[in-house]
Amino acid sequence: MNQVTKAVIPAAGLGTRMLPYACAVPKEMLPIVDLPAVYFLVDEAVRSGIRDILIITNRGKECMEDFFDYSPEYDSLLRSHGRDEEADRLRAIADMANISFLRQREPRGLGHAVARAAGFVGEDAFVVLYGDDIIFSKTPVTAQLIRAYESYGKPVAAVKPVPPELLRKYCSLRVRSLPDDPRAFLCDDMIEKPAPGQEFSDLAILGRVLLEPDVFAILRELPPGAGGEIQLTDAMAILARSRGMIALDFEGRRFDLGSKLGFLTANVLRGIDHPETGKDFRAFLRELSSSL
Ligand code: UTP
Repeated sequence: MNQVTKAVIPAAGLGTRMLPYACAVPKEMLPIVDLPAVYFLVDEAVRSGIRDILIITNRGKECMEDFFDYSPEYDSLLRSHGRDEEADRLRAIADMANISFLRQREPRGLGHAVARAAGFVGEDAFVVLYGDDIIFSKTPVTAQLIRAYESYGKPVAAVKPVPPELLRKYCSLRVRSLPDDPRAFLCDDMIEKPAPGQEFSDLAILGRVLLEPDVFAILRELPPGAGGEIQLTDAMAILARSRGMIALDFEGRRFDLGSKLGFLTANVLRGIDHPETGKDFRAFLRELSSSL
């Protein structure tokens, strides 16, 4: 089994839950204190051994490319003011990984976005990090998925139990336990956006999957599913039914940056630990909480 070194970040969605903001700025570029959400995805991937990253974009999302590029203007300005450390930090972001960009052209769903990565992926297993889901964890979640893939030799989905109202917006997996690992399950079916009564379990996929290139043949043939979109879950359901997938109850805290609440809570959590803002922000929150 080859080492997993490729990742795809679909970031071409319209982000309608974050309107009006998202009609001018991609939700994947929402700031978490001073870094855009997509930075945390690339950082997680790199810390997991990923070297090559393809970000699927769309019209109006060019600022993602600018963020991961060299910025000679800032470099010379900062260095001329003796701020070499900050200039080095910007340069390090541009050198994190081999990052390339490809347009989806039409936002026809997550499965359609992933299908665009077939040429980049070639014959290798790869990780998909959903562009608006950031997860803070001790061991990067991508590394947790890669470890499960190496153990079981099957595609892996990162899952968590979620309440019924979220299950209906996400998906639901049919699973059975595996010996020796209370966090790993064998998944043999799943359903996207189940109506009440259609749920298999309270486990839903949250933001990360590890797939093999056989998913592309399935995606090419897949009709539109829930919401009229090409759903990655529908392709994974076919995989799960035919050869089984691993559902991994990952360690980590996930924030949906495509939702207003996810954006706010991620900023609070990072804000209280940030070296520049932590002390004053904690004091502010203490004062605020006494008046809530
Ligand atoms: P979402 O379903 O959360 O994104 O997809 P969305 O369609 O932008 O969201 P809303 O419901 O309108 O608010 C998860 C990830 O997949 C990407 C999104 O950019 C997001 O990061 N995506 C989604 C694509 O790349 N292409 C698509 O056609 C749809």
